[in-house]
Amino acid sequence: MAPDHDPAFPAHGRAVDDLIADLRGGRGDDADWRRGRTFSLVYNAADAELERLHEAVAAEYLHENYLNPFAFPSLLRMEREVVAMGADLLHGNPRGGKLTGGGTESLFLAVQVARDHARAARGIAEPRMVLPSTAHPAFAKACHYLDVEEVRVPVGADGRADVAATLAAVDPSTALVVGSAPCYPFGVVDPIPELAALAAEQGALCHVDACLGGWLLPFLERLGEAMPPWDFRVEGVTSVSADVHKYGWCFKGASLLVHRDEDQLRRQYFLFDGWPGGLYGSATTAGTRPAAPIAAAWATVSHLGLDGYLRLADQVRAVSRRIRDGVDGIQGLRVTGDPVPGVLQIAADADPATGAPVLDIGAVGDVMDDRGWHLDRQQGGLHAILSPSHVAVADEFLSDLAAAVAGHGDSRGVEARYGGVG
Ligand SMILES: Cc1ncc(COP(=O)(O)O)c(C=O)c1O
Repeated sequence: MAPDHDPAFPAHGRAVDDLIADLRGGRGDDADWRRGRTFSLVYNAADAELERLHEAVAAEYLHENYLNPFAFPSLLRMEREVVAMGADLLHGNPRGGKLTGGGTESLFLAVQVARDHARAARGIAEPRMVLPSTAHPAFAKACHYLDVEEVRVPVGADGRADVAATLAAVDPSTALVVGSAPCYPFGVVDPIPELAALAAEQGALCHVDACLGGWLLPFLERLGEAMPPWDFRVEGVTSVSADVHKYGWCFKGASLLVHRDEDQLRRQYFLFDGWPGGLYGSATTAGTRPAAPIAAAWATVSHLGLDGYLRLADQVRAVSRRIRDGVDGIQGLRVTGDPVPGVLQIAADADPATGAPVLDIGAVGDVMDDRGWHLDRQQGGLHAILSPSHVAVADEFLSDLAAAVAGHGDSRGVEARYGGVG
C-alpha cells in the first residue's frame, strides 16, 4: 500500500475486490484498538450490537448531505432529538444546541459566539479569552483563526484551574472564560462555579469544555461517584460542549454544543445571499456535511438509553480503578492528581530530595510501545483514556508496565537502552 514514490494519477481504474483486498492488506501497522492496545482516538464500547447498529446506520446515510437539513427532514428530526436528549443530560436548554462535526468545531463555535457577543453586546473591539493551561489546543486554534487573544493561566498543583490566577487574568475585555470537565491531560475537573462567577462579574460568557466528560460524568454521578459541579446547574455557565463521538460511544463526526440562551445559538448561524446562487445558510462551520454521524448519534443514544450508558460508565469506572490502583502499586510510578474515572496521566514519582523524576517515563513508554501498547506521550507522563475494551487487558497492561519500569525505567535501564545518551 505505502508506495516509496509519489504515484502518478492512475491511468485505469481498479477492480473493487482488488482494492478492498489492498485496503485490508495495508492495515498491518495501524493501531490495534479492537484488542484494547490504544488509549485514545477510538472509544471502544466493546459492544458487538452497538457496532452492528453503527455499520447499518453508516450504510443507510452514507450518501446524504446535511448541508441542507430541509432536504432531509429525517436528519433534522434526529438532530433535534439528540440535542434535546443531550441537553436533558446536561440540565440545559433543549432548543439551545446543535450537533457539530467534533470537539474542535464545537469549541471553535463557542469562541466565535463569545467573540461576537463581546463585540456586539459589550462593544469590545479586541476580545480576550482566559483559560487554564490544561485547556485543549482547539481553543488556541480557534483564537488563531478568529483573532481572539488567548490568555493561558497556569493551573494549581492539583492540575485544576487556579481561581486566584484566573481572577488576576480576567479584565473588562474578557469575552470568554473556559473550564474543562475534565481536562484532557490529567482528567481533572476545573472549579467551574468559581470560573463561571468570575466570567459573570465581567459580563463575559463561560464555556465548559466537556467534550471528554459530557457523556460520562452524568452517568458516573448517577452511579454515586462524587462529582464536582460543572454543567448548566452551575449559574453563569453559558455553553457546554460534549462529544458524542467520545464517551457518547458514537462513531466519529458528532459533538454537541449547547448554549443556555438561544440568542447565543443564533450567533452561530451564518446566512448569505450576496451571490447569484440563492440563500446559503449554515448553523456550524462546515458546508457539505456527512449525514451518517448525525443519524449515528441519534441511534446510539436511543439504543443505549440510560441503562446502557450506566452499564458502560460502570465498566469505565471499574477499569479506571484497576489501572489507577495498579499504577500506584508500581514503585516509581503514580497517577497525576485526582482524575475522574476514564482519563489519567501515568507519571514518574518525584525524588523527595531533588524533586526530579525517579525514572525516565518516556523510556517506560518506549518499552510499552515495543510490547504493542500505544500510550500517548505528554510532557509529564503517559496518557491513557480508558474504555470497556480495556477491561479484558488491564492485568496484562499492568504487568507489562511493571516489567517496563523494572527493566528500562530506571536510569541504568535508560543508559542501556540509549547507550548512555538518555
Ligand atoms: C477536552 C477536549 N476538548 C476538545 C477535544 C477536541 O475534540 P476533537 O478531537 O473531537 O476535535 C478533545 C479531544 O480529545 C478533548 O479531550
